[in-house]
Amino acid sequence: MRELNEIKKDLNCCDQEILDLLKQRLGYAAEIMEYKKEQGLPIFLPEEEKIRHEDLLAAIGDHAYCDELLSIFKQIHEESKCVQTKSLFGHNIALIGFMGTGKSTVSKYLRNMLAMKEVDVDAMIVEDQKMPIRDIFEKYGEEYFRDCESNAILNLRNCRQTIISCGGGAVMREENVKNLKKGSRIILLTARPETILARVKDDGGRPILNGNMNVEFIKELMAKRKDFYEKAADIIVETDHKSVQQICEELVVSLM
Ligand code: S3P
Repeated sequence: MRELNEIKKDLNCCDQEILDLLKQRLGYAAEIMEYKKEQGLPIFLPEEEKIRHEDLLAAIGDHAYCDELLSIFKQIHEESKCVQTKSLFGHNIALIGFMGTGKSTVSKYLRNMLAMKEVDVDAMIVEDQKMPIRDIFEKYGEEYFRDCESNAILNLRNCRQTIISCGGGAVMREENVKNLKKGSRIILLTARPETILARVKDDGGRPILNGNMNVEFIKELMAKRKDFYEKAADIIVETDHKSVQQICEELVVSLM
């Protein structure tokens, strides 16, 4: 058997080599992003990611520590994305827009695409109040819900590299817009009332639309909110007839 000191020396050498390679690897990740930015290439290629994952599985094979190796590489890939995202922008992304414009879907896709943290303002309220939004409206009324919403947005003032998905009415209060603007670029997602109705009609979780599930009501409320949305927005992205990948690519490019 080898001496313990000798084994430890080899282990330390490994760490040094891994560290040197990781430094190199993160540098390459940043370089790739610079190249993509300069050439106007797509930022995120899910198909390529899938192939890279398959290649990795093949390279690991049935090694005794395959689960551990996979988990290490997953982390390396996440951190590479973080480096790339940081080279794109240093602010949060706040998603605003009418109910059913796809804020939650876009937020989840962006989280995966950019390895950013993700918070949902409605989910924060639900967790804090320990009841669904529907019940908060019913029990305490809309004003109370709006106060919770303002409070949640205020509490997000120190977060960084985060996607903040806001409820559809959040920007009706100026203080919320002011607080969001401090650390975030605000993206307005839009969709036609018909598209919105198709997306939300089977979901009973939105009290504002209870008993009002029709295009006329949506159109009217949208018109009332339009100026607030547009005034708050740094960037506007239309979502009709686009895939979530298209929407996110467009959004990221307009943020760069
Ligand atoms: C609201 C939108 C909802 C939620 C609440 C009120 C609104 O969020 O905050 O029901 O006033 O538009 P989503 O836009 O995520 O559905």
